[in-house]
Amino acid sequence: MKVKFIAIAAHGKDRQIGLNGGLPWNLPDEYQHYKDTVRGQYVLVGRKNFELHGSDVEGSMPLVLSRTPSENSRAPVFGSMGAVVDYADAIGIEKIYVIGGGEIYNLSLPYLSEFLCSVVDYEGPADTYFPEYSFYEWEMVHSEVFDRWSLYHMRKRPDF
Ligand SMILES: NC(=O)c1ccc[n+]([C@@H]2O[C@H](COP(=O)([O-])OP(=O)(O)OC[C@H]3O[C@@H](n4cnc5c(N)ncnc54)[C@H](OP(=O)(O)O)[C@@H]3O)[C@@H](O)[C@H]2O)c1
Repeated sequence: MKVKFIAIAAHGKDRQIGLNGGLPWNLPDEYQHYKDTVRGQYVLVGRKNFELHGSDVEGSMPLVLSRTPSENSRAPVFGSMGAVVDYADAIGIEKIYVIGGGEIYNLSLPYLSEFLCSVVDYEGPADTYFPEYSFYEWEMVHSEVFDRWSLYHMRKRPDF
């Protein structure tokens, strides 16, 4: 596998990421960080997230994961992570940002080499969660504290 997968996600203190199809919080500067990061980049997105928030990734190049590939989609659709890797390696894509939602973060976890994680100061309800992950598998590249959220840029340790 030549392509590099980088997850970008915002989760609450208990790994909450979604509520009723949206984000559980309203943090314009965190959302701007997300948009600035993925603009012009390949993004891997779950079919549900793409349908809910397709316009979020305007200016990006979406690759959609779905078990029911559709030829009429606004973006290429793939049935597995393996198919995405094959496609990326065949056409020379160097990096893909994984933008969720929950099912797609879970699916991509073993493929990740970097993780741009916004931890939000949020303890409320959710119906979608980021999968459990171990901090031991990651080393910190950079961290920064903002109002109501913190950014952690992590890289997967070579032995994981
Ligand atoms: N806080 C954040 O950073 C963040 C980021 C993104 C999204 N979100 C939130 O997350 C929620 C949406 O997440 P979600 O977990 O419900 O949906 P999702 O991950 O966006 O999409 C799920 C879909 O992915 C496809 N899929 C799942 N496993 C697959 C597999 N093994 N192979 C191929 N395709 C597969 C299926 O599509 P088909 O049904 O078509 O087969 C499935 O219905 C929303 O609330 C959204 O706001 C939060």
